[in-house]
Amino acid sequence: MQQPCIEVKGLNFNYPDGTKALEDLNLEIEAGRTYGLIGPNGAGKSTFLLHVNGILSGRGAISVFGLPVLEKNLTSIRSQVGLVFQDPDSQLFMPTVFDDVAFGPLNMGMPVDKVREAVVRALEEVDMLPAIKRSSHHLSFGEKKRICLATVLSMSPKVLLLDEPTANLDPKHRRQLIRLLERLRITKVIATHDLELVGELCSRVILLDQGRLIVEETADTVLSNTALLEAHGLEMSVCPGRERSGVLPDRERFSPA
Ligand SMILES: Nc1ncnc2c1ncn2[C@@H]1O[C@H](COP(=O)(O)OP(=O)(O)OP(=O)(O)O)[C@@H](O)[C@H]1O
Ligand SMILES: [Mg+2]
Repeated sequence: MQQPCIEVKGLNFNYPDGTKALEDLNLEIEAGRTYGLIGPNGAGKSTFLLHVNGILSGRGAISVFGLPVLEKNLTSIRSQVGLVFQDPDSQLFMPTVFDDVAFGPLNMGMPVDKVREAVVRALEEVDMLPAIKRSSHHLSFGEKKRICLATVLSMSPKVLLLDEPTANLDPKHRRQLIRLLERLRITKVIATHDLELVGELCSRVILLDQGRLIVEETADTVLSNTALLEAHGLEMSVCPGRERSGVLPDRERFSPA
């Protein structure tokens, strides 16, 4: 079998105040697929994503393309795995939008002229190029979310971890983001309460509750199981968009990057 893109074995994590956030999590995430990471508030979605690029570190093991997520490998892992935080203020810290989006590529040692190209391309992708000289902190919440995505796209990651990417986006920019994610032929894990987005973009779903894995299954199987969704505080407000848009599951369109 092909090596998993992300492999998680027996992962447990408690926050310093004792809150149990992840409990005996075992998962294999295949390259080239798009996964929806769902579950009620406090399920452990954000905590899990923070483990994949080593911002948090629990008991158990995680590897990315076979490389263990350990201190000594973090530079390599973070150059391949882009994480867009749930809270944009955790991600944006430079004086201008340009500096924020250029930070990753500069840190990776990209030549300055290439950095400028990467920044412009990433800002165009999220429709924020006009804000290139502005201060990130003066932007609206939804605008900040889009800049956060650009800070990761500018590094051309192999794996994209997105935490609530559509939260606070207006309908036009939510749609634009979905189209952009559809075009990106990389492995994606999207933590979200937007089950319509999951229906449109994801071929598989990981359902967490109280830090435990409830199920990892095809998106169709999970999204059509109303009782399962309700048992974990979730509901489909609309039918899966796939049925309306005719979007195919990612596996059928892409081969793994
Ligand atoms: N810094 C922290 N200190 C203590 N407990 C925390 C901290 N951050 C999160 N938790 C707790 O860890 C558990 C998992 O939280 P997490 O933020 O991962 O959930 P989530 O699934 O992302 O929720 P949401 O849908 O609200 O974003 C929750 O019980 C939460 O209260
Ligand atoms: Mg969260």
